Amino acid sequence: MAACRQSTLGLLENLTESEFRQQSHPDFSPVGWHLGHIAFTESLWLLEHLKEDSCPYPHYQKLFAADGLPKAERENLPDSPDILAFLQDIRDRTFTYLETAPLYDQLRLWRWVVQHESQHAETATYVLALHRQAHTTSLGEKPTAPTLQRAPKSASTRNMALIPGGEFEMGNNNLDALDNERPSHLVRVADYWLDCTPVTVTEYAAFIAAGGYQNSQWWHPEGWAWVQKHRISHPLHWCEDPIWGDTPVCGVSWYEADAYSCFVGKRLPTEAEWERAAHWHPRQNCMQRYPWGEEPLTTKRANFGGTEGSVTPVGAYPAGRSATGCDDLLGNVWEWTNTWFEGYPEFVPYPYPGYSQTYFDRAHRVLRGGSWATRPWVLRPTFRNWYHPWVRQMFAGFRCALSA
Ligand code: AVJ
Ligand code: FE
Repeated sequence: MAACRQSTLGLLENLTESEFRQQSHPDFSPVGWHLGHIAFTESLWLLEHLKEDSCPYPHYQKLFAADGLPKAERENLPDSPDILAFLQDIRDRTFTYLETAPLYDQLRLWRWVVQHESQHAETATYVLALHRQAHTTSLGEKPTAPTLQRAPKSASTRNMALIPGGEFEMGNNNLDALDNERPSHLVRVADYWLDCTPVTVTEYAAFIAAGGYQNSQWWHPEGWAWVQKHRISHPLHWCEDPIWGDTPVCGVSWYEADAYSCFVGKRLPTEAEWERAAHWHPRQNCMQRYPWGEEPLTTKRANFGGTEGSVTPVGAYPAGRSATGCDDLLGNVWEWTNTWFEGYPEFVPYPYPGYSQTYFDRAHRVLRGGSWATRPWVLRPTFRNWYHPWVRQMFAGFRCALSA
């Protein structure tokens, strides 16, 4: 909890007052709101729910509860020193309680609270990136005339791993598992190919140059409507400087990921295919904790936790390669899958239905693997993230698949 908090407070370095309280996008709350909500949620679940204290800051309830105010009304925040004092006071009370709490009966909830903070800290990183537009140059509103080069005639399996199909255990029953990862259950997939790395900026630039954003043929009908309505002509975080060429494309919607996959004659992987690639061992036919095996996650094996401050070239972490032959499965960019976010069979909401169940609406697609900004407490092969298919503020890219 202390390490997670240190990483959360790292967001405050060089933070201006406007970056603290202003919304950088209507769908995302201000950084200061995320900080207050982190404290409020810790208080709600550990102090009120477990310790059975009464709400220590009732006047913050409306502002910082998940179901309190609409996002657009979250800019009217207390001053930053007040929010920091709130965080610290709740933390002091929590650690005092920890001295006598029956921790081993409550561990799932304590670990949930750390993961909740991790996720809000990552979302605050997206908000800051929008304020600062890190490594982003706009190509201008007016799209350049398409050169309409031809798309590849047929898909190439170059730089793809052939992954044998079969039955495997999907999901996570450990204490750290969030409700949507449970229960683990047997899933069968057929043989498939999966890109060894996420799609790079250079690869994606070929789609743009071929008129990808001007030609409906590659797009899901809703995606094509979205491109036209918002005059989209390149990913959100997009820079054509060749120094970014080998980094994964970052800041794409599911629609863009789907269209590119179509352009190269491939498709997005299902989340089961993604998960099998990320921790199944082909020769031992067993699930491993991480893509590379049981050894712990370190910064030698993946780009995560915000330490690099941006995406890194694909394949830069050979020690993180999976037993199935894929790189960058954990960290660098979130990866869109073709799967709607739904509960696994016999799903039970925890700790409240609004955490996952509310989003089982066949309107959110699953993302896997975490980004360069993902905190280690939520970085694992079974972790499921979800967003509407048009959202691209999170650091998301993708890799493609093919049925064998
Ligand atoms: C899983 C990242 C989509 O931020 O809305 C945080 C996580 N849920 N507080 C979100 C979450 C409640 C969730 N995402
Ligand atoms: Fe939350």
